[in-house]
Amino acid sequence: MNFQLTEEHLMIRQAARDFAQQELLPGVIERDETQAFPHEQIKKLGEMGFLGMMVSPDYGGAGMDTISYVLAMEELSKIDASVSVVVSVNNSLVCWGLETFGNEEQKQKYLRPLASGQCHGAFLLSEPEAGSDATSQRTTADDKGDHYILNGTKNWITCGNTASTYLVIAQTYPEKGHKGINAFIVERNSPGITLGPKEQKMGIRASDTHSVMFQDVKVPKGNRIGEDGFGFKFAMKTLGGGRIGIASQALGIASGAFELAVKYSKERKAFGTEIMNHQAIQFKLADMATEIEASRLLCLKAAWLKDQHLEYALASSMAKLYSSKTAMDTTIEAVQIHGGYGYVKEYHVERLMRDAKITQIYEGTSEVQKIVISREVLR
Ligand code: CAA
Repeated sequence: MNFQLTEEHLMIRQAARDFAQQELLPGVIERDETQAFPHEQIKKLGEMGFLGMMVSPDYGGAGMDTISYVLAMEELSKIDASVSVVVSVNNSLVCWGLETFGNEEQKQKYLRPLASGQCHGAFLLSEPEAGSDATSQRTTADDKGDHYILNGTKNWITCGNTASTYLVIAQTYPEKGHKGINAFIVERNSPGITLGPKEQKMGIRASDTHSVMFQDVKVPKGNRIGEDGFGFKFAMKTLGGGRIGIASQALGIASGAFELAVKYSKERKAFGTEIMNHQAIQFKLADMATEIEASRLLCLKAAWLKDQHLEYALASSMAKLYSSKTAMDTTIEAVQIHGGYGYVKEYHVERLMRDAKITQIYEGTSEVQKIVISREVLR
């Protein structure tokens, strides 16, 4: 077993770290406060190849492995999880889904611009009554011969407004349950699409989250992904990789908070010495460091399995479950170590604490991850 990162991995990690320090850190507090979408930062990340990291260069991607993706996600998320969620959704849910299951025409038309960073996409699965219970899709896709007609509402859609391309999950044959569900590529500017107001969120506030309504939206038959009825499996398989992305985001939020806590405990004095000299602080830092390292190993193992074309759904759910808990535990302790300073915005840890919570909710709640894991261990 080799835990050594390659030269290339180290370079990618450094590039992401530099970008986060130079381009994300300035303005991160203001973007959080004003909920301003990071257009400029996403454009630059696209130009650097971070939006289509794992896509083959044949389709405009950077051709990197999943381990590189985990390393980049950790570094970006240390500073700005509102940016890294866009990176994660575009890489894992949109580009991976299209590259793996799309046909050649779909890849040339839709994947290429998404992977080369000219634009980004969104993944539309969740509905008002189909969150964790994802088989209960109410959005319908009626087969009209050479096209489908979509009707329904999707909720909590990351990049609902800023995305140019949607991957939409909808029900074509309700009597068949999840076997009647399809996945479609839908252009954001199609007639009949309207958006709800931007959601006012607790965390990842600069990311763009909306409800998306479909009223008689016409989608060409050629935009269906895979065989008729493949949509639910498409969603589940795609989410398997997505969970590696969000696990890495959670890891980054945790390690960002940890680095700030270490720095602060070396500077802040109380009871006549730097607070790092108090065992109460040392024990907290030891717990944080250990949880973060365990999370990192789970993320990297899931990524390695995926890169080896081995089964990774169990590993990705474990990575997400544990890393998102680590993100919560660590950010809460980082705020505690900072005391009163931790409760104000300029020290960053309160934002990281708010951002951490979403990692236990989106791309499958912690409870969903436990369903996936327990089914596997009880098999
Ligand atoms: N790969 C392939 N097929 C899979 C699969 C996988 N990983 N997981 C399930 N399936 C298949 C099953 O084999 C089954 O097919 P068959 O009937 O042919 O055997 C079918 O899918 C239905 O599976 P289940 O019976 O297990 O379905 P369930 O109703 O019990 O649900 C669940 C299982 C794990 C809870 C699932 O519904 C789920 O993952 N829910 C959470 C949804 C989710 O993660 N939403 C996130 C939205 S996207 C998002 O958040 C993006 C963002 O903004 C950042």
